[in-house]
Amino acid sequence: MEEMKQRILTQGEVLPGHILKVGSFLNQQIDCAFLERMGREVASLFAGCGVTKVLTIESSGIAIAASVGMAMNVPMIFAKKHQTSNVSGRVLSTVIHSYTHGNDYTAVVSAEYLLPGDRVLLVDDFLANGNALEGLIRMVEGAGATVVGAACAIEKGFQHGGDKLRERGYRVESLAIVETMEDDGTVTFRP
Ligand code: G4P
Repeated sequence: MEEMKQRILTQGEVLPGHILKVGSFLNQQIDCAFLERMGREVASLFAGCGVTKVLTIESSGIAIAASVGMAMNVPMIFAKKHQTSNVSGRVLSTVIHSYTHGNDYTAVVSAEYLLPGDRVLLVDDFLANGNALEGLIRMVEGAGATVVGAACAIEKGFQHGGDKLRERGYRVESLAIVETMEDDGTVTFRP
């Protein structure tokens, strides 16, 4: 998506540790008109795939996942990172390792929302090492549902999480794939 690349080039900031800050339009302040266009772009990429639900993990994935859900007219589910009193009954859970934060957390979804027969599109804001998406895949397949594919706003191609999933046969679509990110702020994209 050309607009995503331009936003990254004009509004993104490269932080130490190969972190791309996009707080001005995606991660903290959200450009809602742009968010709507992201949702429609993802919806058009997966049109005709029979998606019945969109799934993400709290918190930063929620906005784009909701936008995709609206554009596809299907429910959006978000996995919680901690079991809370409003996730009750039988739950699907999986432990996910965050490379960026160096910790493990448990993602939880009520089993009543992911059903056998569901065709699920995974959505997230960032795809780095792919651990979050791999955790969501375990949940969906554990529920007897089908992973239709995954869509991300920004993929960090140099961390190879997206490529690992593609090698496993999953369809992964990213609105921009950052190939290199230098400390001087230079960013290049995968064509
Ligand atoms: P992975 O799922 O692809 O393996 O990624 P990883 O665990 O390394 O990422 C951990 C968190 O850091 C995720 O958010 C991810 O969205 C975010 N992240 C990774 N790289 C970048 C980056 O370059 N820029 C920004 N802005 N975020 C990045 P999270 O910890 O789950 O937190 P949140 O969703 O609650 O914000």
